[in-house]
Amino acid sequence: MTPHASNPDAWRDVDRYLTDQLVQQDAALTETLASSEREGLPAIEVAPTHAKLLHLLARMVGARRVLEIGTLGGYSTTWLARAVPDDGVVVTCEAVPHHAEVAERNLTRAGVGDRVQIRVGSALDTLTALADDGTEPFDFVFIDADKANNPHYFEWAMNLTRPGGVIVCDNVVRGGRVVDDASTDADIVGTRTFLGLIGSDPRVDATAIQTVGLKGWDGFAIALVR
Ligand code: SAH
Ligand code: DHB
Ligand code: MG
Repeated sequence: MTPHASNPDAWRDVDRYLTDQLVQQDAALTETLASSEREGLPAIEVAPTHAKLLHLLARMVGARRVLEIGTLGGYSTTWLARAVPDDGVVVTCEAVPHHAEVAERNLTRAGVGDRVQIRVGSALDTLTALADDGTEPFDFVFIDADKANNPHYFEWAMNLTRPGGVIVCDNVVRGGRVVDDASTDADIVGTRTFLGLIGSDPRVDATAIQTVGLKGWDGFAIALVR
């Protein structure tokens, strides 16, 4: 037996180890997590190793304009904002005003407040407004809000992303519940419909990866816009 058999405690131990080895979190990021907890936000932000994956993917595509759907306390937002150049921008959508207020403070403390626009309101409304305003195309989109709307978020992301851009969607595995084809849970149905769309839409090449770690068993879908 290896010291780490395959179980959720071992996943967390290994993720903690990988975080210690690979993810340099400054005081602003740890304070973002601490203040989110103090303010009573749910601890559903991406894990540090996964936040850094998003950051690296955004840099790999040379992202200058990032769209995020689901801000929470601004943890993933900070990582994405630190991936764009000084004149880059992250537009992030959040429905809950209290989440947006906490995020605003955290982003300012992290020194990226000037390059992040938090749009408070239902993301579908914000996306409609962005399109109506003729917003410039985005290079990178991170979908991480209400999973029931993922099929709609994918359509909006397609409308708003440049060729060669990347769309990433969080939480597509949900502890394995994604394979339950009898599920009536709107989040599962939304995720399954979303995966069907990205798997068959000729405008993208897509895959998904399962993840284990500090946040349990879940996964990301990743689509490259052709
Ligand atoms: N991306 C964040 C976590 C987001 S959690 C991180 O990893 O750090 C999901 C967020 O989406 C919550 O803050 C929730 O309030 C928000 N949300 C849920 N439904 C929404 C909607 N319809 N429009 C905009 N935001 C929504
Ligand atoms: C939930 C949402 C998330 O974005 C996440 O990463 C984990 C959990 C949720 O709504 O339960
Ligand atoms: Mg998520």
